Amino acid sequence: MTKVGLVGWRGMVGSVLMQRMVEEGDFDHIEPIYFSTSNAGGEAPSFGGKQAAAPLQDASNVEALKACDIVITCQGGDYTKAVYPQLRAAGWNGHWIDAASALRMADESVIVLDPVNMDVIKKALANGGRDWIGGNCTVSLMLMGLGGLFRHDLVEWVSAMTYQAASGAGAQNMRELLSQMGALHDAVKAELADPASAILDIDRKVSETMRSADFPVKNFRGTALAGSLIPWIDVPVEHGQSKEEWKGGSECNKILGRAAFRSEGSIPIDGLCVRIGAMRCHSQGLTIKLRKDVPLDEVSDIIASANEWVRVVPNEREVTERELTPAAVTGKLTIPVGRLHKLAMGPEYLGAFTVGDQLLWGAAEPLRRMLRILLD
Ligand code: HSE
Repeated sequence: MTKVGLVGWRGMVGSVLMQRMVEEGDFDHIEPIYFSTSNAGGEAPSFGGKQAAAPLQDASNVEALKACDIVITCQGGDYTKAVYPQLRAAGWNGHWIDAASALRMADESVIVLDPVNMDVIKKALANGGRDWIGGNCTVSLMLMGLGGLFRHDLVEWVSAMTYQAASGAGAQNMRELLSQMGALHDAVKAELADPASAILDIDRKVSETMRSADFPVKNFRGTALAGSLIPWIDVPVEHGQSKEEWKGGSECNKILGRAAFRSEGSIPIDGLCVRIGAMRCHSQGLTIKLRKDVPLDEVSDIIASANEWVRVVPNEREVTERELTPAAVTGKLTIPVGRLHKLAMGPEYLGAFTVGDQLLWGAAEPLRRMLRILLD
């Protein structure tokens, strides 16, 4: 049976990956070998009713990793940068499946999102590809939603304005968001219980609390997210973009097998990435310039038929409020796309809004699906 090394299975993305692998019966097809960066020799877990043959292995031990046919890591970019080159230098020819961004843009890597780029994956496999990297969550979620339009080559450019959940920043940030919400509520609990209290007094207390020195903001780099937003994600790069915004253009074009971002033949994809107080669903408001005036019902059919997870939500108030929100989508694999309508700029300009769970299609799901592709 194929030996699969699992690294970073205990973290947030790793835990979602394990959960999905159990749900899909993936453990029936593999011999799992669990690695740890801190507890080598400890007892290995048993997912999918399968007991690992060995205790936890040292995740930095190249010889132990070399014994695996496939390694899947959710351990993060620093781990990848430290271990992957050593492993390849030691002559390992196995498949490396990675959630981190470290290797994404390398020529040898494919960014995996098989419902969108199975053709790119198959071509790389035929050419001996061995490095399979999960895409940035926002990018993967946008392509899962709009894949049909790209497949029909209908997209001239896209502007994506994102509304990204705390989970994209990490587990500690999710906790901090909730702590911030709690602190704000605590500050005005008495006033909220009194229907006669003045809303502007409540608002003033909330503002004072979120600006106070003891408001919990360590993980959000000193900034309040609850009751606010943060219009910058990740480090600055060039052209005034944040790295998260740069990934939108660079990774989308790579996933689609097109020319490098900003070069001829690539699709311009750009926008502003914003952190909001959602837990684990990223949302995106999209302006799409179509290559021609395609009737809205055709646009809708093309989007809806691209894969089995995308759902078109009619552009109506009630159903949008019910189905096109992080609260409705969290924990689900479905990718709703709604608010579809032609914009005032002209018949080629399409407005859309999409929501997706950033830990599922945005992180874990493409990895476990790549595993299954390799096992087939
Ligand atoms: N970089 C993303 C974010 C998450 O900060 O929301 C991972 O792709």
